[in-house]
Amino acid sequence: MVQVTLEPLKIPERLLMPAVFERAWTEPANRLKPRILLPAAFTGAAPILPGEHRVFIVFNRKGGAGKTTTTLELACAWAAMGYTVRIIDGDPQDAGLTGWLEPVYPEGLAVKNRMTLKNVLYGEVGLDEATYYTRYKNLYIVPSYEDCAVVEYDPAVTGERTLRRAIKRSEAPVDITIVDCPPKIGKLSTFTLALGGEVLVPSQLSGLDQKSNEPLRRTIADAQEEYDVRVRAAVLTAWGQTKISLKVGNEMAEHYPDALVCPVRRSVDATTAPDENKSIREYNKRSTTTRDFDQLGRMLVAPRGEAA
Ligand SMILES: Nc1ncnc2c1ncn2[C@@H]1O[C@H](COP(=O)(O)OP(=O)(O)O)[C@@H](O)[C@H]1O
Ligand SMILES: [Mg+2]
Repeated sequence: MVQVTLEPLKIPERLLMPAVFERAWTEPANRLKPRILLPAAFTGAAPILPGEHRVFIVFNRKGGAGKTTTTLELACAWAAMGYTVRIIDGDPQDAGLTGWLEPVYPEGLAVKNRMTLKNVLYGEVGLDEATYYTRYKNLYIVPSYEDCAVVEYDPAVTGERTLRRAIKRSEAPVDITIVDCPPKIGKLSTFTLALGGEVLVPSQLSGLDQKSNEPLRRTIADAQEEYDVRVRAAVLTAWGQTKISLKVGNEMAEHYPDALVCPVRRSVDATTAPDENKSIREYNKRSTTTRDFDQLGRMLVAPRGEAA
């Protein structure tokens, strides 16, 4: 199997987005500049120590928010730093991560013997048995297909602890688990929030996304009463210089005072890369979208050997 090694990017200083300790964009929309808003408590990202494991949950109850794109591009950014990253595809639909980043199944493995998230949730296999190589070095995937949607209405699948336990029992030397959530509230999204960890909230910059922001904030606040989840970043996907960018961005900063608020600029590369089953990072490493995700990845997790 020949895998693509994702290289670290060398982004010249002048092309990096400024990161500022502010909580709002105050300029008029037509003079809006992409910049990362930092929470007051931000002290820089720490590298992951050997034996440490971090869980990121990419969550938004709305479809088309940029969850899948955020999951893959951050996973690639961290894989390029040399971390071992396992993506759990928690959204069983054809237009999801498994369809984009096709798992590399062992040669000769019959389709019926391919294990997925569904098998894990039914307690039939452990997480490691449902983890497969991808086209990228250091990046692994637990796939899911449409049949996994059955867990939503099958009373046999109950425990929100199943997935948490599966991660705990895994023996694979994974540094980062990142979960792509489905665009609805149900068992799958509850199971992933129950993992506890660092929540990333992507949102596109449209009026409809803006309308879903307040219910989303409440869903996350409810989850926080039960689970140990912290919102680490709001990701403004397909960012552009518009009035609604200003509105959604400022609202995200207000809703998640302890989170980074990070624009990721709109590009054609982002919409085209999935068609070639490549990450945006591989498709065009100079794309602004690639650079912005790389920068965000580094603000969440520092490369090994770098002090916090
Ligand atoms: N930076 C970007 N620029 C342009 N289009 C984007 C960008 N990020 C995401 N998109 C597009 O937005 C759509 C929804 O993104 P996706 O990640 O599938 O959202 P979700 O998983 O929340 O449903 C996709 O067509 C994707 O290509
Ligand atoms: Mg998706």
